[in-house]
Amino acid sequence: MTTSCRGTLAYTVPKLTDYSAAALEKAAGELLSVLKEEADKSWKSETDWKTFRDRWLSRKNGILTLVNDLWLKTAPKEAKRAVGQKVNEIKLEVEHAVEMTEGLQLEWATTSQPASTADSVDISLPGVRRPIGAEHPVMKTWREIVSVFQKLGYSVAEGPVVETDYYNFEALNFPPNHPARDTQDTLFIAGQQSKPQRERLLLRTHTSPVQIRTMEKMRPPIRIVIPGTVHRNDPPDASHSPMFHQIEGLAVDTNITFGDLKGTLDHAMKALFGSSVKTHFRPSFFPFTEPSAELYVTCFICGGSGKRGADPCRPCKQTGWIEVLGCGMVDPNVFEFVKDNGYDPRKVSGFAFGMGVDRLALLKYGVDDLQYFFQGDVRFLQQFG
Ligand code: PHE
Repeated sequence: MTTSCRGTLAYTVPKLTDYSAAALEKAAGELLSVLKEEADKSWKSETDWKTFRDRWLSRKNGILTLVNDLWLKTAPKEAKRAVGQKVNEIKLEVEHAVEMTEGLQLEWATTSQPASTADSVDISLPGVRRPIGAEHPVMKTWREIVSVFQKLGYSVAEGPVVETDYYNFEALNFPPNHPARDTQDTLFIAGQQSKPQRERLLLRTHTSPVQIRTMEKMRPPIRIVIPGTVHRNDPPDASHSPMFHQIEGLAVDTNITFGDLKGTLDHAMKALFGSSVKTHFRPSFFPFTEPSAELYVTCFICGGSGKRGADPCRPCKQTGWIEVLGCGMVDPNVFEFVKDNGYDPRKVSGFAFGMGVDRLALLKYGVDDLQYFFQGDVRFLQQFG
């Protein structure tokens, strides 16, 4: 039988010619003692460990593969069983050794490194600064708007983002199949064809459904603001996003007039954008308010002139006015849906408004692309810290 060069890394798997139990035992014994020797040397560096692993386990020319080829495959029929068993034992030993040394190697790598640098720590140097996050500009604007209304005595209400057709459309006076629904296309939850239309689920397109939900729970008078996330079928671009944020307002009492709406919103805009801002209402349409309006404020970038020096003012498209929200007097048809909770349209009146938080943040901070708000790029967000 071939002799192996025991004790050096030059060990090569010998060809077996004698398949007696004794010869097999001897060959296996030699191999395992080489395994032990090499394992002992392989755990202090990752490269050594990898060389060790490949030398024993590599499918191509690893020692285990050679043992298989040179001992088992060549074994005469009558010895196959015994050789097979021995080869299996060897396999388990090798795998175990590789696993153990990997553990030792990893432990060594983590515990030895700090120990070696610990000697050189200069405690008079400043520590490692951990960057502190900054409040996201959209959330900051969200909070500011909510607090303006809280100071006026409004409470905060919230509602579900996954909403039924009833609350998102029907109870807000968008009849089934009415074209006004097209202006607020959204994602519908799949597989609901068997449900009646009003129970079908969708991602809410505005925070207005919470008007109904709140009026179902609370009797008049109410004054609430409703911040939340909404979705629309709008591909993302510099001024659109399929997901954005809104803040809704609702005030219902006896004798609420359009004058109250104007006064409240004029005050809120001055609180948000500065006292020199002027407001301006233009007629509009929403199914759930009548009359409806869009609120414009004088452009706080150019102060209403439409110009920035010699250049045209882009945010207001040179008009000097910026549209900030939709609003109106609650439509009596909406009250009909919650009449039983004290909202008799002949006795109460109210106003509602809804604004896009992201758009206001965009204008307030002079950001030129809405997408920055959603990308989570720290370089962008840091500027608001
Ligand atoms: N819900 C409307 C929208 O998303 C805004 C709005 C709210 C208009 C309340 C009037 C009253 O466009």
